[in-house]
Amino acid sequence: MKEQDPITKVIRIHSERTNEMEHSSPLFLTSSFVFENAESMRAAFADETDDNIYSRFSNPTVQEFTDRICALEGAEAAYATASGMSAIFASFMTFLKKGDHLLSCNAIFGSTHTIIKKYLPNYGIECSYVSADKPGEWEAAIRPNTKMIYLETPTNPGLDIIDLAFAGELAKKHNLILNVDNCFATPVNQRPIDFGAHLVVHSATKWMDGQGRVLGGVIAGKKELIHDIYMFCRSTGPALAPFNAWVLSKSLETLDVRMERHASNALYIAKALENHPKISWLRYPSLPSHPQYAIAIKQMKNGGGIVCFNLKGGIESGRNFLNNLQMLSLTANLGDTRSIASHPASTTHAKLTEEERMAVNITPGLIRISTGLEYAGDILDDIVQALEKC
Ligand SMILES: Cc1ncc(COP(=O)(O)O)c(C=O)c1O
Repeated sequence: MKEQDPITKVIRIHSERTNEMEHSSPLFLTSSFVFENAESMRAAFADETDDNIYSRFSNPTVQEFTDRICALEGAEAAYATASGMSAIFASFMTFLKKGDHLLSCNAIFGSTHTIIKKYLPNYGIECSYVSADKPGEWEAAIRPNTKMIYLETPTNPGLDIIDLAFAGELAKKHNLILNVDNCFATPVNQRPIDFGAHLVVHSATKWMDGQGRVLGGVIAGKKELIHDIYMFCRSTGPALAPFNAWVLSKSLETLDVRMERHASNALYIAKALENHPKISWLRYPSLPSHPQYAIAIKQMKNGGGIVCFNLKGGIESGRNFLNNLQMLSLTANLGDTRSIASHPASTTHAKLTEEERMAVNITPGLIRISTGLEYAGDILDDIVQALEKC
C-alpha cells in the first residue's frame, strides 16, 4: 500500500487499543505504571525495555500526541512539554553550555526574548541577534563558538518571513543546530525539517489546541537530539500532563481543516482592510504586498491565521480600537476558534525597550488579529466598526 499522507496518518495514529475496544483515544491519567515483578522493573530502569515507568518520563497518551506530531512535521522523534516556553527552554538548555554562542533572529516571542537576554547569560551562554529581514548579515554574525541558530517564521507579532531553505543551508555549512519555532504556521502549513531544521519547537497552546483550553509544547526533530532533550526533561520535569496531551492529540485530528478556515478568514479580512484609511500598513504573508511574499508562498501552504496592521493614530488609536471592539476578544492568547485582537506594544512585548520594539516592527499602533472560525463577514464588520471610532 502506498504511504499515507501526513493528514491521514495524524487521524489514524492512536495509542494501542485497550480490552474495552474503544474507538476514540483512551486517556491514561496515571502518574506511574506497575510492574509484574522485580526483574521487569529492574530492566525498565536499566533502559533494557521501553516499558513506561513514570509519567514525567513517558505516558501512552503523551506518546500518541508526539507520534502524531512526528507524522505532521516529518520528524523522527518528539518530546512533549507542559508549555511552549518549556519546550523552547529545554531546546536551549539541552544543547547550549557555558562558552557557547546562540545566534537568534531578533523578531521572537516576548518570553523567548526574556530567556535569551536575561537567563542564558547567567549560565555563561553568549547570545546575539540578527535581523529577520536582513539575512545577508547572518553569516558574518556566526562565531567560532556558535552552536545553534534559533528563529521563528512567521514571527510573532510582526509576521516577518524567514527563508527556511537559506537558514537550513547556513546551518549545514557551519555545522550548527537549526532550531525553528513553527508555532505560527503549524506543521500542516509549513515543515521546517524539509528545509534542513534539526529541531522544531511549538507552543501547542495555540493553533494545535485551537480552542483555548490547555497549555502544551513540543519539540520534534532528529532521534539523537530528541533523546538528549528527553534525558534533560526526564530529570528536570517539564513533562506534558496526560490530560492535556489527550486534548491536544484529539485536536490534531482537525488541525488541517481548522487551519484552512483560519487562513481563508484571515485572507478575507486582510484583503478587505489593506487600503483602509485608518491603517498605514497591513501584513499578511500570502498577500503580494507582504515584503517577503515570494518566500512565504515558497515555504507555506497558506498565509496562516494571523493578520497584523498599524493604526495611523499610534498608541491612543490602538487603545480606542480595542475598547470599541464588540465581538473580538481581548485576551492573552492566539489560535482560538474565537477571533482575538491584541496590542503587542503594551502587552506581550512590553518588556522590550522602545528601540528593541521598533527594530522588530512593533510600532505603537500595531494590532495583531488572530482570526477565529466565526463567519468571516462578522469578524470584518466588528473590526471595521471599531476602526471607524478610533
Ligand atoms: C511564537 C510563540 N512561541 C512560543 C510561545 C509560548 O508558548 P506557551 O504560552 O505555550 O508557553 C508563544 C506564545 O504566545 C508564541 O506565540
